[in-house]
Amino acid sequence: MKDKRPDTDKFDARLAAVYRERTDKQQHYDDWASSYDSDLVDDLDYVAWRAAGDLFAERVDARDQPILDVACGTGLVGEYLRDLGFDQIDGADFSGEMLAVAARRNVYRELWQHDFTRPRRPEPGYAALICVGMFSFTTPRISDLPHVVDCVRPGGLCVITVNGAAWRELDLETGARRAAAEHGFTITEMITIDYIREQDIDARVLVIRR
Ligand SMILES: C[S@@+](CC[C@H](N)C(=O)[O-])C[C@H]1O[C@@H](n2cnc3c(N)ncnc32)[C@H](O)[C@@H]1O
Repeated sequence: MKDKRPDTDKFDARLAAVYRERTDKQQHYDDWASSYDSDLVDDLDYVAWRAAGDLFAERVDARDQPILDVACGTGLVGEYLRDLGFDQIDGADFSGEMLAVAARRNVYRELWQHDFTRPRRPEPGYAALICVGMFSFTTPRISDLPHVVDCVRPGGLCVITVNGAAWRELDLETGARRAAAEHGFTITEMITIDYIREQDIDARVLVIRR
């Protein structure tokens, strides 16, 4: 029988390591935290954090409301949004070491640890959120989208990237539309941006209204 798993080994080894199914993903990100920025930004021309940040800033007027950076990693996105004028940014991630690097940037109001394969609805919800780089080939699955969307209050806006190679190879559009229909949120835009240029990977940005 033909193996239908996507061929993620065609990518740079540092990407393939997180694109394949593994049970130690959190530990892997912990171990990657100290070299993540130089590996991705300097070596592989990772650019989605700026493009998604720009899309977010174009759509969210109020710079002084609490917003959430989901899967904040080392804080690239938070720092970019701070420079665009946002001044109440919280961050969340499941990797304690990634959060520790993010904390040293001094741009986040609060950082909290959470695995988005599970629900958590902060009260009160955030006005808006951004999530860059978390949805890809493996966990969290596109069916976990509601765990992210539920972090904003009703009517709040979400700007969420999905790895473009995974989007096509796993037909994640079907899963995203199903999640929206079942959980009552609206995908208002789907935009293609550059993601990791050195590897020719793009991203689909989902703009969602809860
Ligand atoms: C490719 S990095 C992106 C980080 C950051 N947003 C950026 O643009 O540089 C993916 C991030 O998602 C986090 N992550 C992966 N799976 C997660 C999960 N199930 N729950 C929470 N965070 C997760 C990782 O720890 C990592 O920081």
